[in-house]
Amino acid sequence: MAKIQPETLNLGKDLPKHIGIIMDGNGRWATRKGLPRKLGHRAGMERLRGLIRFSSDIGIEALSLYAFSTENWKRPKEEVGALFELFMEYFLSELDELHKNGVCIRIMGDMSAFPQRMQDAMAEAMSKTASNPGLKLNIALNYGSRAEVVRAANILVKKGEEVDEEALMNALYTAGLPDLDLVIRTAGEQRLSNFMLLQAAYAEFVFTDETFPELTEELYTGCIREYQRRTRRFGAVVEKK
Ligand code: IPE
Ligand code: IPE
Ligand code: MG
Repeated sequence: MAKIQPETLNLGKDLPKHIGIIMDGNGRWATRKGLPRKLGHRAGMERLRGLIRFSSDIGIEALSLYAFSTENWKRPKEEVGALFELFMEYFLSELDELHKNGVCIRIMGDMSAFPQRMQDAMAEAMSKTASNPGLKLNIALNYGSRAEVVRAANILVKKGEEVDEEALMNALYTAGLPDLDLVIRTAGEQRLSNFMLLQAAYAEFVFTDETFPELTEELYTGCIREYQRRTRRFGAVVEKK
């Protein structure tokens, strides 16, 4: 497939460096079609493949995806199991392609709760792609922002040094990455659900009524355009764009 150039989309240079996506609404997408929820998750995974490639093609620096939260364990066992199966399938089928495209994979979250073969697959994905120069792809799995901050606090306590903002931010999973510029949440809900609270301190939020399986490249580009129309002030006085 030909590489999509940002110029042909007229996105200009003002691309968000770091985008977060709260991939919501897979279940509702399926239910509306009279399908089991797990087919919604499958449709979400297919959409994900496209959006990761697209983000990489248009030159997004970092993409953080909310795939499974620390709260999602409250779901029925069968649904959680189906989700894990899909994650495995995704990693096994996409790893080579992602690696070839220079994508660098980072898993954010407590992996120890997952089946061993899944932990092995994640560890392989991370080590294989660690020095890749392309899109930084962060996948939040068994992730919660509060758990991340607790983990960071423990890392810092062990170091025993005085903590400043830089030290705190560097103890998060996103160490070394820019803050989130844009957070997109699909399926109409307007909340963070424990996603990257510190990294989103000055992010712009765009909510879509469409569910995640319906987040086409066109809609995603529309979210980026919406971001570009916003005036970011970071607390200062800035003339409107
Ligand atoms: C998001 O879709 C995927 C995960 C949370 C894993 P949902 O499964 O939350 O879909 P809805 O919100 O129930 O429609
Ligand atoms: C947030 O979606 C978590 C992920 C997208 C992985 P949820 O569907 O779990 O969030 P709530 O329960 O509606 O807040
Ligand atoms: Mg949901």
